[in-house]
Amino acid sequence: MKRRTFTLGGIAAAGTMLLAACGGGRTGAEADGGDEAGGGFDADATIGVSLPWLGTQNWAEAEDLFKAQLEEAGFTALIQAADNKVPQQQQQIEAMVQKGVKAIVVGPIDGTQLGSALKAAQDADVRIIGYDRLIENTEAVDAVVQFGSIRTGELQGQSLLDGLADRKGDGPYNIELFGGGPADPNAPNFFEGAMSVLQPKIDDGTLVVVSGQTDFQQAATQDWDNGKAQSRMDSILAANYSDKQIDGVLSPNDGIARAIITSCKAAGQDVPVVDGLDAETESISSIWAGEQYSTVHKPTKDLVAKTVEIISAYQAGEEPPAADESENNGMIDVPIYALEPVVVTKDNAEEVFAEDEARLALLED
Ligand code: BGC
Repeated sequence: MKRRTFTLGGIAAAGTMLLAACGGGRTGAEADGGDEAGGGFDADATIGVSLPWLGTQNWAEAEDLFKAQLEEAGFTALIQAADNKVPQQQQQIEAMVQKGVKAIVVGPIDGTQLGSALKAAQDADVRIIGYDRLIENTEAVDAVVQFGSIRTGELQGQSLLDGLADRKGDGPYNIELFGGGPADPNAPNFFEGAMSVLQPKIDDGTLVVVSGQTDFQQAATQDWDNGKAQSRMDSILAANYSDKQIDGVLSPNDGIARAIITSCKAAGQDVPVVDGLDAETESISSIWAGEQYSTVHKPTKDLVAKTVEIISAYQAGEEPPAADESENNGMIDVPIYALEPVVVTKDNAEEVFAEDEARLALLED
């Protein structure tokens, strides 16, 4: 049978739990391949995980943690990364369906380009969970698990402002703006969240974007490529800052933050205030050494655990835990599990990483 996608919007509109009961996904006997105990699928089923690339630490950690946590929950894990190439990710998803996976976890390279691969998965009664990134323009998605992406951007914008006040004295401040890869649905959201904090300060003259490049399209970094961000920073500095100090730079993640700092140092600038994302090893060391100002920590372990919890509910034929919000993906309202990210500076790093041995170990003097 064809599965109807559960949407928060649909339930709210219908104003009845009846629809939830009918539309809330398959239970027990409805599910194909359901086991005799009435579960959604076999307890040792294979679960596919399709990651966009392993180019930033969060994805490499996700690869390891999905393997560990899916196996711990009794599943067989089939994990692949697609090297930032959309056709490769489409093929990997198709192959996972061929192999009979019961659920697929997808961190899309391009949120809009997986429609037909995921439709085929849905037609085969495979559960589909977007991981860390929204899956757009398709009905073939059951839920998305992520750290709030607008919220992440707000934290980045606020920590840039805090860092400027902390390190650069009184304004006005000369700043530049960087965004992430435009195909990644997180990237415009991070930027939008940050600009909701920064734009009023640009408007009142506290912040001056000297290059004038304030649109997301101008600020975006194709493919989240650190090298491209570094080249753009080099060009901006050469064209605009020969007689000026750069005070701060909005950065969408840690790799780009370090590329920006490298570029500024090479141009003979003092290190500007730069935020980041991911709490990567190298950036934590940089923050501890007093260079990068901050990062936003979104613990991969928690994101993977939430995803595995949902898959386990599907497996048992139970309703998954209640989602936090819903977001329209261009076709449907997708239930979103939104975890809360946290800003890390030198001041709170020991506290934030108190139970993360590997990161805590980076904070030794
Ligand atoms: C993730 C970030 C990551 C970036 C580049 C984003 O979608 O949320 O954690 O740094 O992709 O890989």
